[in-house]
Amino acid sequence: MLIRNTAERFGLVSKTLHWLTLVLLVGAFSLAISMVNMPFSPRKLEFYSWHKWVGVTIFLVVLLRLAWRLVNPVPAQPGSVPQWQRRLAGLSHATLYMILIVMPITGWIMSSALNLPVVYLGLVHIPSPFGVDRTLGETMKIVHLSLAIALLVLVSIHALAALYHHLVLRDDVLRRMLPWPAPLRTPAPKP
Ligand code: HEM
Ligand code: HEM
Repeated sequence: MLIRNTAERFGLVSKTLHWLTLVLLVGAFSLAISMVNMPFSPRKLEFYSWHKWVGVTIFLVVLLRLAWRLVNPVPAQPGSVPQWQRRLAGLSHATLYMILIVMPITGWIMSSALNLPVVYLGLVHIPSPFGVDRTLGETMKIVHLSLAIALLVLVSIHALAALYHHLVLRDDVLRRMLPWPAPLRTPAPKP
């Protein structure tokens, strides 16, 4: 499988980072929902740490993704996709990237402001320039939760749109992002 993107499909690196993000998000959400509902215990604190580590990893992965995107072509939408849908897809992808960057930042500021420092993988302390500030911490908590809900809604629409392309429109939009090398239904014409 090609490492780099082509004009028709995503390459191995883009695909790996896309699906890795999904796996990490499932981890971050599962840990978050469990941890906030647990009674106070050492296990709860462990879950908080793991949630933060997964969140910081998502941040690093998205930076890597955007850097890779800058030096690779982004496959064009199939010709059958109308202009307004291309714009909407572009806008929704940009919003997804933005939330993936802002969420970890709000989590980090929240934790540090509530005096629960972030120590990535138990090794690297990530200090916050804002210091301890309960009001800031509580505000970030609300922003973090609101963004989590927005992300869930947007990712659901995103996945449904991909399935609609695949099952109803029967084009290559999902095929070219599948983690395995799926042959395209409409291969590019030979030059
Ligand atoms: C994209 C990455 C992230 C996602 C999707 C995510 C998602 C969530 C969700 C769904 C909650 C539960 C909210 C609630 O029920 O109150 C939560 C809580 C929390 N998150 Fe994240 N999070 C991410 C990154 C981070 C990072 C990087 C940190 C810290 C470094 C962090 C720290 C926290 C903390 C401390 C809470 C608990 C808030 C409370 O006690 O109510 N999160 N997160
Ligand atoms: C079952 C879940 C998912 C499916 C079926 C899916 C499917 C796809 C497909 C088919 C594309 C290519 C779209 C195109 O060519 O224009 C794509 C791109 C994209 N996906 Fe997903 N995706 C899923 C989950 C996620 C998640 C969890 C995120 C992150 C929150 C995400 C973020 C993105 C972004 C940002 C792009 C644009 C890539 C780029 O152009 O740089 N996806 N996805």
